[in-house]
Amino acid sequence: MKVLITGGAGFLGQRLARKLLELGALTLEGRRQPITHIDLLDVVRNDSLDDPRVHCLTGDIADVQVLGQALDRDTAVVFHLAAVVSGQAEADFDLGMRINLDASRSLLESCRALGHGPRVVFTSSVAVYGGRLPDSVRDDTALNPQSSYGTQKAIAELLLADYTRRGFVDGRVLRLPTISVRPGRPNAAASSFASGIIREPLGGEAANCPVAADTRLWLLSPRRAVEALVAGCELDASAVADRRPINLPGISVSAGEMVQALREVAGDAVADRVSWQPDERIARIVGSWPGRWDCARAERLGLQGDGDFAAIVRAYIADDLECTKP
Ligand SMILES: NC(=O)c1ccc[n+]([C@@H]2O[C@H](COP(=O)([O-])OP(=O)(O)OC[C@H]3O[C@@H](n4cnc5c(N)ncnc54)[C@H](O)[C@@H]3O)[C@@H](O)[C@H]2O)c1
Repeated sequence: MKVLITGGAGFLGQRLARKLLELGALTLEGRRQPITHIDLLDVVRNDSLDDPRVHCLTGDIADVQVLGQALDRDTAVVFHLAAVVSGQAEADFDLGMRINLDASRSLLESCRALGHGPRVVFTSSVAVYGGRLPDSVRDDTALNPQSSYGTQKAIAELLLADYTRRGFVDGRVLRLPTISVRPGRPNAAASSFASGIIREPLGGEAANCPVAADTRLWLLSPRRAVEALVAGCELDASAVADRRPINLPGISVSAGEMVQALREVAGDAVADRVSWQPDERIARIVGSWPGRWDCARAERLGLQGDGDFAAIVRAYIADDLECTKP
């Protein structure tokens, strides 16, 4: 079986590819199917995976010819992760529309043209919600995005649902909480600080928190996020027939509680590297995202979140920080 990962050189794309290689197979509609081929499509080349099953395709997902090369009649599963992140989509309206929306529609059209209804797992975001929200947000809470990125994700979700209803694809929408702690450098996502305020102090650097200490975030560790992508893909179609989007089970933590967890795990000297200078633009975007969630449906479907934020910090130290030490 062939699997395509769009955004395959990205943070989650690389980790997902590694996880699929390790698993060696996916269970689809009760049948375990060996993964013989993983295509990683990205504008950036990813040579980090040395495995004969992995094939890198460097190209723009908005180019239909590139999509034509990336998909064929053996493609059974598409993980659609390629995107420009929230801050970038807000700063460059045309780019966000082209990659997050137009390319998503083109990808669905290309999948439709295959004729065999491949399974498509789409990574959406909590940014589809906003405005006046109920105390607890559920999968069926009305979408009301307050950013171009959230709008593009919301439209792509609806398209995936309709292409599924038509039988062109078998779609799954996983709404990801903010992934933290993300290794590497800061990126253009409005939520980038949610990793930076932990990662940078642990790496000996100062970090600024641009939102108020009581701003609540909805977080999931990279490890759990990748497990959820696989589990979401493997769900029987009947389990999501009524509603394709699933809010993944994150944990609700305030920025202040995050730094407090860092203090508990790594001590005062590390936590004191965090400063609190507000950034109006980031605070507005992040403040429009809900902080409390009802994830009963995800849990019923067997998708798992993390224990608490201190556990996420410890997992980052074990999985990423320790491995990068010389
Ligand atoms: N990480 C998070 O906190 C988070 C939260 C919610 C949703 N998501 C969603 O999950 C997905 C993966 O996120 P990530 O953190 O791995 O992001 P990432 O930025 O690390 O990866 C996205 C990848 O898409 C690629 N890409 C961008 N434009 C492209 C184009 N025109 N053609 C081909 N590839 C292109 C980028 O080069 C990048 O490698 C995205 O869809 C994102 O919106 C992530």
